[in-house]
Amino acid sequence: MVELFERIAQRIGDGGELVALTGAGISAESGIPTFRGDDGFWTRGSTNYRPEELATWRTFASDPELVWPWYLWRLARCRDAQPNPGHTALVDMDEALGNRFTLVTQNVDGLHSRAGSPEHRSYHIHGNLERMRCSAECNANTWPVPDALRVFAKGDAITPADEPLLRCPSCDAWARPHVLWFDECYDEKWFRYRSSMSAAMAADVLLVVGTSGSTNLPMQMASQALRSKALIVEINLRESAFSDYAVQSGGGLVTGPAGTLLPKLARRLASGSSA
Ligand code: APR
Repeated sequence: MVELFERIAQRIGDGGELVALTGAGISAESGIPTFRGDDGFWTRGSTNYRPEELATWRTFASDPELVWPWYLWRLARCRDAQPNPGHTALVDMDEALGNRFTLVTQNVDGLHSRAGSPEHRSYHIHGNLERMRCSAECNANTWPVPDALRVFAKGDAITPADEPLLRCPSCDAWARPHVLWFDECYDEKWFRYRSSMSAAMAADVLLVVGTSGSTNLPMQMASQALRSKALIVEINLRESAFSDYAVQSGGGLVTGPAGTLLPKLARRLASGSSA
């Protein structure tokens, strides 16, 4: 048994709260293409677009027909993928700990939900590719990407048949992907900013899985958890921006793949504090 997992079990066994914060690394073993990897770019005509250019309100507002096909292609690839043992282990932890467990995920691929993590204890802080909302914010709802939309392959363009399915049913403005873009801010309404910070404040253990620490709210959560004297343990293939926080908290990095390590931790937590 990994020594740090033993320490997590001790903290949690006495009625403690566990917050799991996940990133793209947990879905890597499901074959989800990375955001910044070689296959993340999008081509229209002779121009190549990087994800950082496409994933902005600014680009969407000026050219929704450039941005939507890229998201629909990403959605198709995520739907082809299956949850892996790392996702399942977090469901097992949720079942073992009940309302002492909270999942905060940066992933928009839907794999945690498909594995069975309950929505009421899951904060999707970067949104969800399966959902859309009105770009004019005429209402406060999100709705599923319509089943009637065809499956998009790389390079596909929006056709006149697709367009009505990508419009707000209430006001006919363009719908937009329900994701947080690079030029937008976290908030509570769509992305559970305050709830995530509260969870970090209340946590006895912050478990950070497969994330590099390149976004703002996850780093704020780590800083808050450190101030609140939580134990911070990281599961990653290598050091990240979280590693110093983990060491300062008395925890550290457990090096290895999430799909192998998380099931070990879940089994340890299921056996209680005295195992
Ligand atoms: N097990 C554990 N960790 C892994 C694995 C694995 N099998 N594979 C990769 N990792 C680690 C990498 O070492 C890296 O630290 O996962 C991390 C992935 O980092 P990023 O690709 O930067 O993903 P993430 O941290 O989730 O990115 C945050 O940035 O691109 C935006 O909005 C997007 O939600 C995303 C956010």
